[in-house]
Amino acid sequence: DCPKCCDMVLFGALGDLARRKLIPALYQLEKAGLIAADSRIVGVARESFEASEVNQKVEDIVRQFVAADAIETDSLARFCKRFHFVALDFTDTESYQNLATVLNTQAATEQKRQRIYYLATPPALYSAICAGLSEVGLNAEPARIILEKPIGHNLASSKEINEHVGAHFNESQIYRIDHYLGKETVLNLLALRFANSLFSNNWDHNAVDHVQITAAEQVGVEGRWSYYDDAGQLRDMVQNHLLQVLSLIAMEPPSRLDAESIRDEKLKVLKSLRPINHSNSQQLTVRGQYTSGFAGDKKVPGYLDEPNARENSSTETFVALKAHIDNWRWAGVPFYLRTGKRMPEKRSEVVITFKKQPHNIFHETLPDLPPNKLIIRLQPDEGVEVQMLNKIPGLGKRMQLKATTLDLSFDETFKKKRIADAYERLLLEVMHGNQYLFVHRQEVEHAWDWVDSIIAAWETTEATPKPYPAGSWGPVAAVSLLAQDGREWDE
Ligand code: BG6
Repeated sequence: DCPKCCDMVLFGALGDLARRKLIPALYQLEKAGLIAADSRIVGVARESFEASEVNQKVEDIVRQFVAADAIETDSLARFCKRFHFVALDFTDTESYQNLATVLNTQAATEQKRQRIYYLATPPALYSAICAGLSEVGLNAEPARIILEKPIGHNLASSKEINEHVGAHFNESQIYRIDHYLGKETVLNLLALRFANSLFSNNWDHNAVDHVQITAAEQVGVEGRWSYYDDAGQLRDMVQNHLLQVLSLIAMEPPSRLDAESIRDEKLKVLKSLRPINHSNSQQLTVRGQYTSGFAGDKKVPGYLDEPNARENSSTETFVALKAHIDNWRWAGVPFYLRTGKRMPEKRSEVVITFKKQPHNIFHETLPDLPPNKLIIRLQPDEGVEVQMLNKIPGLGKRMQLKATTLDLSFDETFKKKRIADAYERLLLEVMHGNQYLFVHRQEVEHAWDWVDSIIAAWETTEATPKPYPAGSWGPVAAVSLLAQDGREWDE
């Protein structure tokens, strides 16, 4: 359904996120007829330029970041016409009057227009922007505000940001983005778990041996040194994306498919995570940092030789860890998480390994029955795979078994269905006013609490991250983390 008419205000409209993700996503919504006829997109940036330049600027961005064969002339022209630009000094509350003037023009004729503010700026500006909006009354309900990650650097700073934003907007107006929640395959976790009794009845410590969540990337820091070196892989990927995926896998069935029910259940999982601290971090976590090696065929420098690198930085570019969820459902089931830059390939997946059969009647031909696995390929090559044993057809006296795969590739099964980018879905959900794919303040804070304890533990040990060559699956210690439990990473 097409959402109601709105004004979408993009703060940081010429920044990297807006250019690479938000404007292309909005264009795709335009093309799909999902932006109401009179809706406007108002770019807010420090730079000012002539109104006559706006169309060309927007068109250039779309042409740069949307594949040429996905662009339609008519929808592009329509899209460019929606844009207005307002020059604003984010930290000067008085200059917000410029924005109010543009937004209020429309409001005079049409009272109920929905306003949505997307803060695609560094979080350090969130507080100033909220105060500025508030100063000119633009925060009033039903306005909605979208916050990008990172929401803070630790629990204390995230609380501070949440307090500042909360002073001007109610929780029901705030949409905290974790773009993993907009991914088709991450959403499919809900369908898999709660629409299929085959899985929902086998989703606990009785049936599951362990869970692995991997988010591997082939890229390195990609010129983001100053942000990344301060954050590291634990803050950049685990605190948000991996813990969100873990929560969706581990949560109890929500009673309804709505924001409150889902967020409540995710929160319970985050609260049940067993703390990792100085007493156990050495056994439960591995951090690594890439050295020179390969990205595909290309020779690439190590982390410390990246442009603008800080000498001797001990920031981790790889993390593997073993988490426990201390509740009834998951007692004794480890969740192994792994994420890193400069891995051999881009691959995110969840692997649920089921318990082995208690007794093997095929031991003569297959002494060790491999376990069943459910593999959810989040990206690329989105799909779901079930690994199971089958008899090899034939008249032989003894049964010969073979490990086989039931493979549901999204591409083949849902032919012609384009997989929308996460930002398209998330922007659309905000326009509809659905918060179920957005992160509640308490989730952010509990996730930080858990992560802060790991970082504090790392800081008390002298050890630096273990080196691993670019193009490998991380330090050997990550293999040992599972090997000590008699398990191995799914590759
Ligand atoms: C971002 C991180 O949130 O997610 C990046 O800041 C990372 O470092 C990116 O590269 C990964 O997203 P995706 O969708 O490509 O898996």
